[in-house]
Amino acid sequence: MSEKTLSLIKPDAVERNLIGKIIQIFEDNNLIIDQMKKIHVDIEFAKKFYAIHSSKPFFKDLCDYISSGPLVAIVLKGDNAVQKNRDLMGSTNPKDAKPGTIRNLYAISIDKNSVHGSDSVENAIIEIDLFFKN
Ligand code: CMP
Repeated sequence: MSEKTLSLIKPDAVERNLIGKIIQIFEDNNLIIDQMKKIHVDIEFAKKFYAIHSSKPFFKDLCDYISSGPLVAIVLKGDNAVQKNRDLMGSTNPKDAKPGTIRNLYAISIDKNSVHGSDSVENAIIEIDLFFKN
């Protein structure tokens, strides 16, 4: 079934000129770029986006990092897009990411892990709204 999901190409990947290489992986796997923009979010936006992690010990570092430089927000569209994007990203910690996944290829650490992807259709709707409404 066709779905939409939010992908973020995070500041560490933008900084290393990896936008094109990552988008190529999406397109090679039949995910369509439905909407896309490069933005530098502020700390308040970061706290809102990652609110689900607000009780975690890494919350402050996470918000500082995601607001530290420009990122690329992308709405991906396609069959099973949420799970497909997560499979293409690989595990959160690049040490555990399978060969050939985006995080295996490009991530530096669990913090600088190059990409974010919505974890469910419900959260995708919320996250897309946050980045692309208005
Ligand atoms: P992301 O998919 O953007 O969602 C939350 C982020 O928190 C995650 O990627 C990681 O980059 C970051 N993070 C930092 N430390 C941890 C941790 N111990 N467990 C899970 N996520 C972490």
